[in-house]
Amino acid sequence: MPDPAWQECINPRCRATYDVGRALVRCPACGNLLDVAYDWDRLPVPGSLKEFEARWGTRRNPLDFSGVWRFRELMPFAPADKIVSIGEGQTQLRTAPGVAEYVGVDACKLHLQYEGMNFSGSFKDNGMTGAFSHANMVGARRVACASTGNTSASMASFAGALGGVEAFVFIGSGKIAFGKLCQALDYGGVTIQIEGDFDDAMERVQQVCERLGIYLMNSLNPFRLEGQKAIMYRVLEGLSWEPPDWLIVPGGNLGNSSAFGKAFMELRQLGLIKKVPRVAIINSTGARTLSELINNRGLKWNGGDVDDSIINDYYAYLDAEGIRAVTLASAIEINRPVNLKKAARTIEVTDGAVREVTDEEILDAKAKVGRSGIGCEPASAASVAGAKKLREEGLIAADDTVVCILTGHQLKDPNAAVNYHSAEGEAFREAFDKFGVKNARFRNKPLKTENDLDQILKLVEKA
Ligand code: F0G
Repeated sequence: MPDPAWQECINPRCRATYDVGRALVRCPACGNLLDVAYDWDRLPVPGSLKEFEARWGTRRNPLDFSGVWRFRELMPFAPADKIVSIGEGQTQLRTAPGVAEYVGVDACKLHLQYEGMNFSGSFKDNGMTGAFSHANMVGARRVACASTGNTSASMASFAGALGGVEAFVFIGSGKIAFGKLCQALDYGGVTIQIEGDFDDAMERVQQVCERLGIYLMNSLNPFRLEGQKAIMYRVLEGLSWEPPDWLIVPGGNLGNSSAFGKAFMELRQLGLIKKVPRVAIINSTGARTLSELINNRGLKWNGGDVDDSIINDYYAYLDAEGIRAVTLASAIEINRPVNLKKAARTIEVTDGAVREVTDEEILDAKAKVGRSGIGCEPASAASVAGAKKLREEGLIAADDTVVCILTGHQLKDPNAAVNYHSAEGEAFREAFDKFGVKNARFRNKPLKTENDLDQILKLVEKA
């Protein structure tokens, strides 16, 4: 009996299949991305999503505690004894009336899925438990990733928890917020700073992994995306299993958006949801490859038969003009996202949209999220800024149910927040000019005073 789970090339002219026991990041036959595929007819799938709620009562079982593996029937590639979990995915769907007002939708209709509550402080732990479980299945002892910071923090955290695994982190020198760099270092990741940016690091890590047989943990790895699907299951659970109208996510390397599209395709195929939410992917204007390709250059999923020349021509243009990604939202400072094609699939199957927002819009949205007592890093706030844009365009209606994914914790990048609220004059220009940020509309400036009670009292009274 063949395994009911396997790996399959997304290219319809290839469709080569491979055993789940192999560590692959591209189709060896044609070089395209791979999906994890399942023969659902031979797998025990629950009759309704509500059945998963029973697992809240059996949380002593680590697999039921995990916010990913309590949905294990929807990602059934790993034997239970190979699963590596650190209790990821204890995250929340919250309403935030202040943010709803800012976006322009009804107060109870705007939800924030706060993935900053993961162990390593970002959504990456969802995918990492998938990839580490697979790495454990194939006996990998050395793992690596390129990262703008969060992937590396998560990977190093899992490697530390598992023990006996060496983690190699490739980062663009100076291209990572300190809140993330300190994690990789503290967790014991071997951190290699490359002169260049994420796109350079991504290219090199693939070469190194291939040469040295190291297990690649980036979202090219289809098992990463299996774990990331669980974010959608938790969103649905937070909405009592009623799909929202819109699901809005920042776009960087496009792993999340790819995983979300796959999750919804599968849930629809399994008859577990009737309606598929529209997924909007939000780029920063300084790293706008997906937006340019989908909105201006006609890139389409086309059943998986994507026109590579559209992508190659754009990359040749970027090279000829010497254009690199530049955004204050350093997590998504990426011009060559590895999951482009799968993200195009998400746009097609969910009737989605791609938009870009400026760094100033991102910082303003981030300040609004902060005011609601949550706090996210700049890249995360792209989802809120994107929701506002789509609402202004009228694509989102005031009474639509909207979920914005807050991908990472505020403390990842304290500099962005402190500069936004307190830097002035030359200090402000130095921090923000290169990102085109001119104003801090929602600044909450710290007040200064001598150490004098009367003066302090005056300030307090005036505030
Ligand atoms: N938000 C945050 C906070 C991120 O760290 C990332 C990606 C994204 C959004 C974009 O998600 O890649 O799935 O489209 N960070 C990667 C990293 C690239 O290396 O940590 P994506």
